[in-house]
Amino acid sequence: MTTEITDAIQQRRSFAIISHPDAGKTTITEKLLLLGQLIQVAGSVKGKKADRHATSDWMGMEQERGISVTSSVMQFPYRGRMVNLLDTPGHEDFSEDTYRTLTAVDSALMVIDGAKGVEDRTIKLMNVCRLRDTPIVGFVNKMDRDIRDPIELLDEIEEVLKIEAAPINWPIGMGKEFKGVYNLYTDTIHVFEQGKNYVLTDDIRIEGLDSDEARELLGVYYDDYVDEIELVRGASHEWDQDAFLAGKLTPVFFGTALANFGVREMLDDFVEWAPAPLARNTETREVDPVEEKFSGFVFKIQANMDPKHRDRIAFMRICSGRYTKGMKMRHVRLGKDVKIADAVSFKAGERELLEEAMSGDIIGLHNHGTIQIGDTFTEGEVLKFTGIPHFAPEMFRRIRLKDPLKTKQLQKGLQQLSEEGSTQVFFPMNSNDIIVGAVGVLQFEVVAYRLKDEYKVDAIYESVNVNTARWVESEDDKKFEEFKRKCSDNLALDGGGHLTYLAPTRVNLSLSEERYPEVAFRSTREH
Ligand code: G4P
Repeated sequence: MTTEITDAIQQRRSFAIISHPDAGKTTITEKLLLLGQLIQVAGSVKGKKADRHATSDWMGMEQERGISVTSSVMQFPYRGRMVNLLDTPGHEDFSEDTYRTLTAVDSALMVIDGAKGVEDRTIKLMNVCRLRDTPIVGFVNKMDRDIRDPIELLDEIEEVLKIEAAPINWPIGMGKEFKGVYNLYTDTIHVFEQGKNYVLTDDIRIEGLDSDEARELLGVYYDDYVDEIELVRGASHEWDQDAFLAGKLTPVFFGTALANFGVREMLDDFVEWAPAPLARNTETREVDPVEEKFSGFVFKIQANMDPKHRDRIAFMRICSGRYTKGMKMRHVRLGKDVKIADAVSFKAGERELLEEAMSGDIIGLHNHGTIQIGDTFTEGEVLKFTGIPHFAPEMFRRIRLKDPLKTKQLQKGLQQLSEEGSTQVFFPMNSNDIIVGAVGVLQFEVVAYRLKDEYKVDAIYESVNVNTARWVESEDDKKFEEFKRKCSDNLALDGGGHLTYLAPTRVNLSLSEERYPEVAFRSTREH
């Protein structure tokens, strides 16, 4: 690989934003796009809910609800780096999609609502990041409001998220009295001006806390603030690049995304500190991003990104080498070589035909039904990337057709939706029922909507006596046969043909686990 390409790979920064709904993910994304010059004006976000989702929305339903159901990818150059920002759905019901997106990034930006502190979804998403020790940068948002005591917030981040927190800047006041932030490392104050930060203006900075300008800005609060800074320096963790890269420490920035204040400061450091594309594990070996030969895995499949095209795009994270237009790739699971000349890239939702991409980048492949989540593509080597999870659903419905003649369409629709990870489908061994499973109830609505819209299938969704599902396997063939015989009423095949135990209650599940210790009941399955 030429040094030019190796250098370009080293400049890649691929990350996603994690947050609890309403913490400000959409708002900060918009400001990042503004900084990346993908958009020119960040209209005051307020009152523009429909508009501001316009780049990533594709489904009428999503717009009606004002939630971001699917994720997309945005790429922009910034201060000599190439940023790949992966958007994730905000709604909890689509959390599986978010988890899988997190397998495709090298770092994450965690947005916390300063008034609310660490919330549920953030905790869950942090747990997913922890599986791979993904480095996390923290942004405490909404400083223009009355937030909680910043020291208390840092403590909460450390205690609840079990990660060391190193404040990089420290707020001066909050809400109506918010005057700016003081950078603990550069000894500069970044001055906040109400209502003036909607476009990229030149920042107003004061050099040195021990300056006349700082005294003037802080007025009667000056002495208290100096004491507070001393306390903060003494009591909090210091920035440590190695601990950050190991996922043990998060730098914390304070700001307000809405007023576009503190976002640039954060991004400037983020692109410096965040890791370049990291090595990825396969079943056989670790793949280095600067290896000559191309490899990548599919972490997401999205339908109808462009309603005019009615197609499906497989999102692939490139793990090594380079994609060039017209190259031959091996679809490892199928053992087939395919020539790819129409991979696309995504610039704020607009897709573009791609000439070239490299490790760390996300590219879109047109999927005509042959690509599944978790598929590996290479230049010939038989590899299988690991760590792309599939979660046991928590909710179940039996599907009944209004028109029995549509069975074929229903099966095709469900097959495709389950390959995309939009739902999971189960075929019980002892009945002709079709059961769909989901992690959140909105997923069912999406399935119903899409079955009707795309496959013209009108179905009834009935409640069914299933509480949870577990993928089952065993090394003891004899015992497994006995288990299969005795529990056949509870067994089903999922969309991929994997044997699954459908438990009517948690108690039933525990009893079966006790009764058949030779059988492994798994709540996640790797694709
Ligand atoms: P999400 O994607 O994480 O769900 O959050 P989003 O950006 O949609 O922000 C949620 C709400 O918080 C929005 O208000 C947004 O304007 C507001 N917000 C985001 N950042 C800040 C900030 O720094 N300061 C203040 N004061 N508010 C902020 P909304 O009323 O729900 O939306 P809208 O209808 O007014 O647009």
